[in-house]
Amino acid sequence: MIMRRSEDSLLRLGIFYPSSTGIHVISPEVSAGNPNPFDPQVQCRLAAACEEAGLDYIFLADRWAPFGERCTAAGFQDPFWYAPLLSAALASATRRIGLVSTVHTTYHRPEQVANLGAMLDQLSGGRWGMNIVTGFSPNEAAMFGMANIGHDDRYAMAEDFIEALKYLWTGKSGGFDGRFYKVDARATSLPPLQRDPLMINAGASAAGLDFAAKQADWIFLTGTNAAEVTGKMSKVNAIARDIGRPETAIRAMMHANLIVRDSDDEAQALGASIREKVDLDAAREFAAELMGGMDTFRRMLGAQSERDRLIRVGSRGGGQLLHGSPRTVVADIVRLHREYGCRGLAFSFPIWSPKEVRRSLLSIMPLLAEAGIWISPHERGWSW
Ligand SMILES: Cc1cc2nc3c(=O)[nH]c(=O)nc-3n(C[C@H](O)[C@H](O)[C@H](O)COP(=O)(O)O)c2cc1C
Repeated sequence: MIMRRSEDSLLRLGIFYPSSTGIHVISPEVSAGNPNPFDPQVQCRLAAACEEAGLDYIFLADRWAPFGERCTAAGFQDPFWYAPLLSAALASATRRIGLVSTVHTTYHRPEQVANLGAMLDQLSGGRWGMNIVTGFSPNEAAMFGMANIGHDDRYAMAEDFIEALKYLWTGKSGGFDGRFYKVDARATSLPPLQRDPLMINAGASAAGLDFAAKQADWIFLTGTNAAEVTGKMSKVNAIARDIGRPETAIRAMMHANLIVRDSDDEAQALGASIREKVDLDAAREFAAELMGGMDTFRRMLGAQSERDRLIRVGSRGGGQLLHGSPRTVVADIVRLHREYGCRGLAFSFPIWSPKEVRRSLLSIMPLLAEAGIWISPHERGWSW
């Protein structure tokens, strides 16, 4: 079982898992060089390589509706492994590493997720966590035949959803009578093995930060500079304090696009060649979705020229850039840790295979340990 321990300031490292073709890179040419993500054996070997290298967790994103015809034609995030089911398969391919499944509260019922999550936690021996998302794409709501729910209302619903989930997990009786969700008194759930599985959120708006402060253990923050990220985290901590949660209750996490090569020149040349291969028409569809549904992306990308914006979203989404030699990448991570208050990273690998992921991680991990900001979970034990 993964231990609950949030007091230390050591990094928790994970992988933003390739649950689809081109999870963050929109380019059939780049994807063609990677293994087939829909081969279950590839997925199991990759998960085992991540655990062996010493990652703390596997982060499985999810989405329902394709972003558009061009993205589908480019194989970008369509099709996509359903995160909870892929988590179950990866649980049996690994023994220690954490498994985080993204779940859209808007498109599920608490009774289903309570059982799904508890089962994943039991099956994995207490290694499951949930990334709570409300769904930023109006395409998704339309696909389910639902009216587009307002942004802040989705968070209000998510909060009620999590309360209903906790009601089911604690085995209380009498039913749950929330503002949006009513749980029948007959409904029950298998209890999770961990008393309270890890909850993650990536809210960036005022409503999102408020939700994370109340419900999350980790929050994935995006931002273009340290002041923006620490500013958001101060808001989260202030709200958490007001409702009596301890200061250390919530960790700031970030995601980053990782390319490590022997020299900076080599890594940067590879990064540049990926940028040149972005399918700009497909990236335009994805950028429209991101900017339509997320304030952060509107602010982050709005000031750039169209071409720069498309290349950015098509080569790394909203992630930080970590491209360089092991020393350069580690210096950048130390800066994120010290200046941004970043306590964990989810690496996405534009070029990936079990061998590439292991090689990249093993080239930076000893330096992270030397810098005093990371200890391998093989030594310290796996802890959230
Ligand atoms: C690291 C990270 C992972 C995310 N994963 C998903 C995901 O798997 N599915 C999804 O629909 N949204 C995902 N999102 C989007 C967020 O749920 C959220 O919509 C976004 O950060 C905007 O926040 P806001 O609604 O508070 O403005 C992710 C965001 C980040 C930063």
